[in-house]
Amino acid sequence: MAARSLLLIRGGRVVNDDSSLEADVLVEDGVVRAVGRHVLPPGDSPAELRVLDAAGKLVLPGGIDTHTHMQFPFMGSRSVDDFHLGTKAALAGGTTMIMDFAIPHKGHSLIEAFDTWRSWADPKVCCDYSLHVAVTWWSDQVKEEMKILTQDKGVNSFKMFMAYKDVYMVRDVELYEAFSRCKEIGAIAQVHAENGDLIAEGAKKMLALGITGPEGHELCRPEAVEAEATLRAITIASAVNCPLYVVHVMSKSAAKVVADARRDGTGYACGRNTKDGDLGKGHSGDLTTTGSDNCTFNSCQKALGKDDFTKIPNGVNGVEDRMSIIWEKGVHSGKMDENRFVAVTSTNAAKIFNLYPRKGRIAVGSDADIVIWDPKATRTISAKTHHQAVNFNIFEGMVCHGVPLVTISRGKVVYEAGVFSVSAGDGKFIPRKPFAEYIYKRIKQRDQITSIESSDSPSLGKLSSIRTSEN
Ligand code: URP
Ligand code: ZN
Ligand code: ZN
Ligand code: ZN
Repeated sequence: MAARSLLLIRGGRVVNDDSSLEADVLVEDGVVRAVGRHVLPPGDSPAELRVLDAAGKLVLPGGIDTHTHMQFPFMGSRSVDDFHLGTKAALAGGTTMIMDFAIPHKGHSLIEAFDTWRSWADPKVCCDYSLHVAVTWWSDQVKEEMKILTQDKGVNSFKMFMAYKDVYMVRDVELYEAFSRCKEIGAIAQVHAENGDLIAEGAKKMLALGITGPEGHELCRPEAVEAEATLRAITIASAVNCPLYVVHVMSKSAAKVVADARRDGTGYACGRNTKDGDLGKGHSGDLTTTGSDNCTFNSCQKALGKDDFTKIPNGVNGVEDRMSIIWEKGVHSGKMDENRFVAVTSTNAAKIFNLYPRKGRIAVGSDADIVIWDPKATRTISAKTHHQAVNFNIFEGMVCHGVPLVTISRGKVVYEAGVFSVSAGDGKFIPRKPFAEYIYKRIKQRDQITSIESSDSPSLGKLSSIRTSEN
């Protein structure tokens, strides 16, 4: 019989999304066994009991980064943070789970893409992970594969691109089909909401004007292209009563569209990116989750686009620094408290993607993915000291309060005082079940209301479905 592994975190302040308390946390074989004052290890306390002193520190659920692209083959390059270094960097920053994307080319199998990404990730990951799958084209095969992925492969979220014309972009009617299918199988639809046609036309115009440098990237994407696509996605999703998650919301106007829809009850969640989502852009109360969109290319890879900005591989770092940045901009600046920090860095993601309370909470029975966090210490972000493979850091020089001192993944101390003790493959794929209660309770209720009202009076059927989409 394998020796038990026991860990006692003593004297810290345990912070969940709904409350904080001074408590010890006892961990046995990767799972939280007790949370309370003066927890004692089991009587026959074995030699392998480790005690960590957390006095004066916070004890947080490990972060969940909802959006990464490790070793992603993209725009003629491959992102340099692979599943090994990328997940190590995540752990150093207090993130204990990432959600990456399997992205098939148009005409290719979703299941094949899923299997490919698993074959890349499984032997390399140092923390737990899940996969979203992208729907980049539409057919009966895609429809069938979405069901198989949901029923047999642990996928409950699909991403559709409204940008990347001719590569990943899908049309409104395909969005409609994909959203309808997500709804049937109990998945959540995600969208990359930008108007891909307008971006393509804008890029042509810039190049014709001789604007070839990176400023062209921004100039061909005015805020309106994001706000328009965001509203269009919300409109289509609410027409079929499908839960929608808008990833990497970047502009104030798009954030407002999402916030308005959520207030009306037609929108469900907003993924805000730490890289572009400085909290000043929207009311911090509107923030639901934070994903880094970590998709790193070295400066020499970026140089592929030195004469034509449309050839610059898109993406930057964030997986390591996400937690500290949110602490600094959110908590240190007084916009959110420690509980809301846990909500937006971990708990809400766990609820939306149906991982809760296994992930996203420190409670008896939960996975022991835990961070001992020093809210007062500071660190300066730099490419010289970060653990990512990429050779620059977009947050270079930024001083952040909030430093992860110890990271515990699956009950093991994997990072402590700058030192890793973790191996490739120590993390595991975490399957996710469909029909997450957190989102589907409301969806089912709305369906019921609509069908009752329309069967009451056939002539009112149409009217009530209009009313439903407004609520
Ligand atoms: O643009 C980035 N960072 N990644 C590529 C795919 C995506 O999510 O848009
Ligand atoms: Zn995207
Ligand atoms: Zn992305
Ligand atoms: Zn992106």
